[in-house]
Amino acid sequence: MWPLFERKYKIGESGILNGYTDWHSHILPGVDDGVRDIEKSLEILERYEGIGVKSVWLTPHIMEDIPNSTDHLRERFAELQNAYNGPIGLNLASENMLDVLFEERLSQNDLLPINGNHLLVETSYIEPPMDLYGLLSRIKSAGYFPILAHPERYRYMSDEDYRQLVAMDVKLQMNLPSAIGMYGDEAHRRMKWLLKNGMYSFIGTDLHNGRMLGKLLDGKISSSLCKSIKNIETD
Ligand SMILES: [Fe+2]
Repeated sequence: MWPLFERKYKIGESGILNGYTDWHSHILPGVDDGVRDIEKSLEILERYEGIGVKSVWLTPHIMEDIPNSTDHLRERFAELQNAYNGPIGLNLASENMLDVLFEERLSQNDLLPINGNHLLVETSYIEPPMDLYGLLSRIKSAGYFPILAHPERYRYMSDEDYRQLVAMDVKLQMNLPSAIGMYGDEAHRRMKWLLKNGMYSFIGTDLHNGRMLGKLLDGKISSSLCKSIKNIETD
């Protein structure tokens, strides 16, 4: 049960992000619908330093509509690494839409994994790809653990889907903006259910720009929600 009346904290002042690894961001500039230029990326990283973020995974989209090649992303990442001199650890991976392009990249092992052998994946919010569970099994057969981005935002998923995903060792990654209702009441409700049932393994901001960061840091959450989020174990 969530208490009816309790103190609320701004995310930026709650300590949630202090010592935190951001496992999902679109801060690598000019490669997707996220941050446009390197100056803005550096501004965001400086703000991250101020709230104690320890490391960041840059996870640009790869999908049929945004067909970033791994080489191109590696080049852009090297530019950002050269330009950034601060204390935050920067890491490159990608957020992979489960579409035909992904199937091609998986068959060629042309991938940018997260944390060695994990792959951050997403689907449409409205409907699953054909044979979602078969595809997730093929990812595992190829030697990767799928991390499903923002599971609370998939309107087609049922509680049973979430249970099945966790049972097949698919890791679920919470989108932190869901905690302040940035994606609506339904995603917020699903997020609380997943949190209560201990189903999340990672948290990411899914940050796309500085304005979004401002909204996130100013967003308020209850003390019990704050505590539950801090308890999410990240591998
Ligand atoms: Fe994302």
